[in-house]
This record gives sequence, C-alpha cells and structure tokens, in this order.
Amino acid sequence: MKRCASLILAATIAASPVAAWAQKFDGLAATPQMGWNSWNKFACDIDEKLIRETADAMVKLGLKDAGYQYINIDDCWHGARDGNGNIQADPQRFPSGMKALSDYVHARGLKLGIYSDAGDKTCGGRPGSRGHEYQDAKTYAAWGIDYLKYDWCETKGLNAVGAYTTMRDAIRAANRPILFSMCEWGDNKPWEWGADVGHSWRTTGDIYPCWDCEKSAGSWSAWGVMRILDMQAGLRKYAGPGHWNDMDMLEVGMGMTEDEDRAHFSIWAMLNSPLILGNDLRSMPDSVKKIIGRRDVIALNQDPLGVPALRFWKQGPVELWAKPLANDEWAFMVLNRGESALPLHYDWKQNAIADDLSKREVDFKKATWQWTDAWTGKTGDTSKRLDATVPSHGVLLLRLKKGA
Ligand code: GLA
Repeated sequence: MKRCASLILAATIAASPVAAWAQKFDGLAATPQMGWNSWNKFACDIDEKLIRETADAMVKLGLKDAGYQYINIDDCWHGARDGNGNIQADPQRFPSGMKALSDYVHARGLKLGIYSDAGDKTCGGRPGSRGHEYQDAKTYAAWGIDYLKYDWCETKGLNAVGAYTTMRDAIRAANRPILFSMCEWGDNKPWEWGADVGHSWRTTGDIYPCWDCEKSAGSWSAWGVMRILDMQAGLRKYAGPGHWNDMDMLEVGMGMTEDEDRAHFSIWAMLNSPLILGNDLRSMPDSVKKIIGRRDVIALNQDPLGVPALRFWKQGPVELWAKPLANDEWAFMVLNRGESALPLHYDWKQNAIADDLSKREVDFKKATWQWTDAWTGKTGDTSKRLDATVPSHGVLLLRLKKGA
C-alpha cells in the first residue's frame, strides 16, 4: 500500500514541474494588475517622499478611480540585513520605515508593492532574497506589503521553477495575499509553468522608451515597443484570469511621441499586459494624463473574459488585431508601424475574424456591428466602409458591439 502511494505521488510530481502542495493566492489578478512602479523614471533615486507624493497624485488625478491600485517600489529601497538576517529599508531614504509607508498608501485606498530578487543580489546590487525567502516574505507581510516583483539577477546555478516556487510558498506561509509578479525576462519560458506560481511573468528583457530600437547595455539589451510586441508571438494562449504575460512597465510620458504613446498603451491593453505606469505622476502634461486615464482603453485591458488580442492580418507595416471581449463584443485595432500616415479604406464584409483560441468568430456579412473609437468616442457601423487615417507609429482602436 505504502509503495503504491509513493508511486502515485511520484507520478503526480512528474506530470507537473511545479509542486502542488502550496498555492499562490487566488483572486488577486482576475484582470491584469494596474498601478505604478518607480524604476522606469527614477531607477535607484527613490525615497519615501516620492512614494507618498505618487500615492497622493494617483488619487488626485483620478487614476485610482480609473482602476490603478498598486504603488510599487522597485530596486534600491534596501538597507543592510540586521544581525538576524532581517532585511531593512535604507534608513536615509526611508527613515519612517516600510510599515509607516504602507499605512500611508493604504489610508488612500491604494496598495503597496516592493521588489526583491531570487539571487544573492538584486540587479542594483542590493541584498537579494536567496536563502532568506521565508524570512523576507514574513517581513513583507508584517510591513503590509501587497505586491512583490521578484527579479532574476545574480542567480547563478539557480533553477527558475524552483526559485520562484520557493518564494510563492514563502508568501503563502507568511499568510498575506501578496500579488506575485515574476520578473525572469522570459529566459526559462515562465509562460509554460508560471500560472501555478505567480500572477504574471515578464516575457522579455527590459523595455526602453522608443518605438522600434534595441538599446544595448553591453551584456544585455533593452527593447522598444515594437520589439517587445514581436516577442509576444505564440504567447497569448498562456495568459488568462489570474496569470498574465507581462510586457514590462509602461513608458507612456517618457519621451515617445503622443501617437507612439497612444499605440503603446493600446497594445498593452489589447494584449492584457499589466498596466504599470512608469512616468512621474506628480508632473506630466495633459496629453499624457489623457492617455493613461482613458477609460475606454483601460476597459479593454480589464475586460473580464481575459483573452489577449490576436493578430489576424499583416501586410508591410500594417497589422490588424482583434480581441474577443465579454458579452460577445470585440475590440479591433489597426496598427501602423510605418513612417507615413496610412489612409485606411476598410471593407468589413471582406474580412471575417476567427479566433481558434476563444472559438469566437465574426462575419460582418451576416450582421452589422456598431463601433466606438476607444480614443475619440467617434461612432459608426460595419455596414459602411471604414474610412480613416491611421497616423505613422499609431493605431486606430475600436470597440464593436453587435446590432444595427
Ligand atoms: C531588472 C528588471 C527591471 C528593474 C531593474 C532594477 O533589469 O527587469 O524591471 O526592476 O532590474 O534593477
């Protein structure tokens, strides 16, 4: 009998690379997480004042009401470990301590995130969590942390499934529902095993605020928006409620043109990437506020069906994308990657859409659909040709609803 039980256990383990006796916290990312992160704009130049002011701005600008929830401190918040190995915040930059900061953020109806690394050191050279996973998770829980981004620097010899599973189990043992954001850059195909381990996994190396460039940092590169988009090929089937492909934090308001920013935000929405703002919320032009606060676009990202968009047509610089939505609706995006504006004359009836993944299809010959432009609010229907101009490095983004 005993031998038989252990055989069954061995067979169960062999079937899944992820052990099944602890679980991530469910219900934390039914739709992709939304918030802000300090890294893209501030890198290591962070302190508690910045975090408090960002939380205030999030509320004051109406971004909290638009769905943004997490204020995430990235790398470089750390001080040294104390004599018992407990991690401490940098006493100069965070003199009030993390518990006081989480109280401040919670009092505004927001949540606080923090950053660590599976290796000995973080990418910024601060103490990593290797060998301290349970201790660190317990500390984060005591501080009232709600979100952990867990990086992959200095992980020589570590097995990614094992390292991320260990931190998942440590969070479970600490008994606080902390959203677990895996930042392993796609090196070990986290989409194949991440759903049981975390709530999202980075699919690529770091983003860079350019349309289509590679920015070399010597041993690694950061990538423009089009490069990151192209690296998502084949990954849509792995994402869904509770477990998302993370295309990295947003670069809206960080130096691209308005059309590029709008396209970037639309693509992240259409592909169900977490929407984590990366700019300075305390000061930004109205044009940027309008983009990150555009509720019709956010609604596509937060649609409860949680099926990422499908590219169903491509020719030269032009791509057509469609995203099945709940209540039998669709989102439709024309992406113009090219250097000149695209005069669009689109006959809906010549272009049916079929999605094998969601088993949904739409044939515009059979019914008329009403459309609303998610950026401008303009309306129309599919009985008439769609005439529009799609700007260079830009998108046209529509929401479609059946009915005359
Ligand atoms: C890595 C991550 C980034 C950021 C930095 C911090 O590069 O991918 O998102 O967290 O580390 O050092």
